[in-house]
Amino acid sequence: MSAEESPDPGPENSRRSEAGAGWVCGKPGTFKDLLPERVADFSWRRPRVLWRSRNDVLARWFGDPSNAIRRRCVDALRERGTPAAFTVHRAEPEFSFVLLGDTGEGDRSQYAVVPPLLHAAGDTDFMIIASDVIYPAGDAAQYQDKFFRPYKDYPGPIYAVPGNHDWYDGLRGFLHVFCGLDTDCSPPPWRGVLSFLPRMLWRHSGDVDGDALAEARGRYRGAPGQQSLQPGPYWAIDTPSLRVIAVDTGITGVLDRAQGRWLREVSAGPKPKLLVTGKPLYVDDDHRPGRIEGGGTVDEIVQDPAHHYVAAIGGDIHNYQRYPLTTEAGRKIEYIVSGGGGAFMHGTHTIPRTRVVDEGEFRCYPLRGDSLSRYSKLYGRWLHLPKLFELTPQEATAAVEHRLGIKAGRGYEDPALSRRVRFVASLLGVPRDGRRRSRFLRFPVRKVPQRFRSELADWDDPPFFKSFLRLDVTESHLRIRCYAATGCGDHETAPPCEDEVTIALR
Ligand SMILES: [Fe+2]
Repeated sequence: MSAEESPDPGPENSRRSEAGAGWVCGKPGTFKDLLPERVADFSWRRPRVLWRSRNDVLARWFGDPSNAIRRRCVDALRERGTPAAFTVHRAEPEFSFVLLGDTGEGDRSQYAVVPPLLHAAGDTDFMIIASDVIYPAGDAAQYQDKFFRPYKDYPGPIYAVPGNHDWYDGLRGFLHVFCGLDTDCSPPPWRGVLSFLPRMLWRHSGDVDGDALAEARGRYRGAPGQQSLQPGPYWAIDTPSLRVIAVDTGITGVLDRAQGRWLREVSAGPKPKLLVTGKPLYVDDDHRPGRIEGGGTVDEIVQDPAHHYVAAIGGDIHNYQRYPLTTEAGRKIEYIVSGGGGAFMHGTHTIPRTRVVDEGEFRCYPLRGDSLSRYSKLYGRWLHLPKLFELTPQEATAAVEHRLGIKAGRGYEDPALSRRVRFVASLLGVPRDGRRRSRFLRFPVRKVPQRFRSELADWDDPPFFKSFLRLDVTESHLRIRCYAATGCGDHETAPPCEDEVTIALR
């Protein structure tokens, strides 16, 4: 199987111009009309929001309870009669779907994705949300404004894989909405001398108001064509031409033994396969193969030539990245990060010159220069030092090209590279010569906890640099396109296509 890339995917996009990136908006976006009258003030700066996400810290310090909780949930699903294959069958060999990750903040950056998604992918057969359906902690009560309402006009069913944030309520809200299972599979199973600590601090899932959820579903996504019930937190959609396999990576990214066994079973055979995961296997020029309880990794299964995977797409990191990797067995697999579906943005300017694949083959959105410029404006505002920090897209692009020794995607005739520009770029974490960083300059990006940095990367005005994928499947090919959601009105009806790849399936 081979992949053909198109280096020139569309008439306007961020590789062509600043307007294509959304730096200059012709007219404001209409997405604001979709927002609820009262949008809850969602900010990662609020201690309450961070406190509600505390299960993440507990899982990392005292052991991730996701596998034990998932086992109980899966037992409950099987008792209810869910077939062990956890597979949905579709008869059509030709179909299309839209995939986006890390959606559920319920604020402008999430709703800004909706109009371009409906224009570019409103005719697809189904949607997949890969990771973090509801921030900050998966609460069932928040599905109305962070899931049902934004996607009310998407006519097809929606399937999902949970992200770590969905797990912070023990997956209770997720299972209720997507699997129709109303069971509290907690409490976590910690044992030992210090187990009282996580037991005491663990945020337990609240009660689920089934009537309120049913009303929200009926009001916003009540049409017959929008209904679906997925088999479990991990599942497969089997079609004559492609099998889409989705895994649940819990809080820290480890698959339980039973899920690993299931993954090996559904991965067998010559049919081409696409993996959807809550944690990407290649991201930020790093390989994160995904451990399976009892031995082996998810990526070993994906790279096994007997399994015929053609692509692996993961959420969790809030931008778009694509690594067309040739495996040791000589097969090409597209490893894609697609987590720019609504929540705050993770910068791409901290990605080094790639070694996983040749830099010329690597694609990301936003471009590193745009990412750096956006971050510099945020830091300037936050530190009340705009004159020092703010870099124009042109300055930021020049700094990225200088430090990484690459072509950063959008060419400028006169690269503006002052000492100040170089200083800000290094301070905000653009690696020098691909990888080397001084100890001092490494501090701002690597040592500050992600949540602290992400608060700075959360904004409510264009350009948002959000993205989603449209995937079209025929009997012979899989075509993947990454579309931008900038928040600009012009781009809502003609979203820029930022990347495209077509993969032969036979
Ligand atoms: Fe996320």
